[in-house]
Order: sequence, then structure tokens, then C-alpha cells
Amino acid sequence: MRKIIDIRSDTKTIPTKLMYKAMLDAPLGDEQNEEDPTVIKLQKIAAEKLGKEDALFLASGTMGNLVAMLAHTQAGDSVIMEEESHILRCEVGGLAAVAGLMLKTVPGELGFPNLKSLTEAIIGEGRLFPTTKLVCIENTHNSAGGTCINVEQMKKLSSLVKKHNIKIHIDGARIFNAAVALNVDPADLVREADSIQFCLSKSLGCPFGSLLVGDKSFISKARKKRQMIGGGMRQAGLMAAAGVVGLEDMIERLQEDHENAYLLAKGLVEAGMKVNMNTVQTNMVYFEVPKEKINPMDLVNKLREENILIGEPKEREIRVVTHKDIDRQDISLVIQKIQGIME
Ligand SMILES: Cc1ncc(COP(=O)(O)O)c(C=O)c1O
Repeated sequence: MRKIIDIRSDTKTIPTKLMYKAMLDAPLGDEQNEEDPTVIKLQKIAAEKLGKEDALFLASGTMGNLVAMLAHTQAGDSVIMEEESHILRCEVGGLAAVAGLMLKTVPGELGFPNLKSLTEAIIGEGRLFPTTKLVCIENTHNSAGGTCINVEQMKKLSSLVKKHNIKIHIDGARIFNAAVALNVDPADLVREADSIQFCLSKSLGCPFGSLLVGDKSFISKARKKRQMIGGGMRQAGLMAAAGVVGLEDMIERLQEDHENAYLLAKGLVEAGMKVNMNTVQTNMVYFEVPKEKINPMDLVNKLREENILIGEPKEREIRVVTHKDIDRQDISLVIQKIQGIME
């Protein structure tokens, strides 16, 4: 049977051989008691890569973002984020249901919040007020197209919010994609942030987990919040071992995914799809199937018959994502098949 080309998401990857081997060989211990040497090693590498003091291993990006919000705020505070942020679209309202936060949203451009709107959304101190304590930024920004927020934008944001004593959290599920695309040190990209969550289980190709990174006192608070929501683990080094390989081996190669996404986007345009090329910056491509050509669900089904899996259409828009299990040949085949269907 021909290989299944699954470009629905970069969460569809399977671990590399090196990851499997590292998992087999990993020294283990009781993580809840901070006795797992492999988890400790992973946390140390993560903190170093992002230029912060400490890090905490967690089950998922959703858990990392929730724990960050719990650690930075108290119930009744408010949090500001761009209106299409993953935290508010796809994390089951944890910010309200668990952290008790009031949400203010602001419009953005390519995922970066409009700073004038953000300034207007800040709620100050006062006996009656849900004071703004946190701003969350998403980098890369998923629903904007995998777009990057750069160092200059982070500096502008920081100079605006820090004078109000507001913390910055980055939902950096794909922060290394942003760093590679912008050709900057990831530590520079997150310097202005008080915390960053990044995912091992997305473009880095690991089977499990996320890291929350920040200063020592923040991570110590976050550890307790993680415990509160049931996220303390035991011999988690088994999963952390794959994460170590992810951080050591899988970052540089992201450039390849970005080039593949760009080629795919160009092929889609040639096939008659609408693509905003300004948004094709990393490993994602959102395209619109023109009304007169084909029903988007028919396109999905026809490609499925060819062992090619693409995202579920939202109206006429479909997302495709490149990753480590997709090579240049796969991209050419996808383009060829889509062009064939559209003819
Ligand atoms: C930008 C962003 N943040 C957070 C998450 C949540 O990560 P997880 O699925 O590990 O909970 C995702 C998942 O797709 C994401 O794309």
C-alpha cells in the first residue's frame, strides 16, 4: 500500500527511531518528587534554549497555557488576547472555567494584537475592577496561518504592558518554527515574555508533551498548579526522552517543512486555489476552494481515495500542515493530485 500522506496537522507525526531508542534507554524516577533524571534533563535544555531560569514538563499545550494562567493570575483578574487565539478558540474555556479569568479580546493582524485596541482593553487597579494581569500572545499564530511575531513586535508590546505591571505569556506551541523562519535565536524571541509554553508533540515530532518555561519562582508556582489539576507525573522520563531528541535534533530541520509549505502553497495557487501568500511563513497553508470549481468536501474525499489526508473544510477554507513525515516527493504528489482533480 502506498504511504498515507497526512497533512491535516503536524500532530500526526510518529516518533523517530532515535526517539524510540532514547525512550528505551532513559533513566527514570518519580517525576512528582522531581526525581526523574530524564525529565530534569529535558527541563534544563528547554530553559537554556529559551534563555530562562527554569522549565516544567507537562502533558499538553492546553495544560501548559492553563497552568501559566493559573500561576500568573487570581480568579477575578482579566486577561487580554488576540480574538482568534487558540487559548480561547480551542481550549474548552479553561481560562474561565478553571482559572476564573475574565477575557478581553482584541483584533489582530497576522496574529499580532492591535496595540491601540490592547491599550484600550487594559483594566487598571481598583476595588471594583477585574484588573488586567496578563496578556497572552500566540507565536506562531495558528489560525492566522502559522504566522510569526517578531522581536520588534514583542518589544513594542512589552514596553506598553510592563508599565501597567501586566505579565506576558506566549502560547508558543510552535515557537521554534517562528525562530527558524525569522532566523533569530529563540531566546531573543521570548526575552520580553514572563512565560512560554511550547509543544514537543507538534512540529518537533515527539509523541507527547509540552514545556512551560519562565523564572524559578514562576515555575515553582506553576509546579503546584500543575499538581492541582492532576498533571503531576511518575516515570515521565519515558516521554521526556523523546523530547530531548526533539530539542536536540528536530529544530534545524523545520526549515525543510517551511520550504515544503511554500512549494505546496504555490502549487495550490497554480491549481486555482486562493492562498494569501503573506500568511505562508512557516509550516501551514490555509487555502480557499473557489466556489465555481469544486465542493471542498468532495476535494477532501477524492484526495482520501488517493491516501492523501487534508484538513476538514471550514466553509470553503482548508488547512494543510507540513511536518517531518512529509518530504518533497510527497508535496509534488499532493500538488499533482490536486491539480488533476481541479482540471
Ligand atoms: C497554537 C496552539 N496552542 C496550543 C495548542 C494546544 O496544544 P495541545 O493539543 O498539546 O493541548 C495547540 C494545538 O494545536 C496550538 O495549535
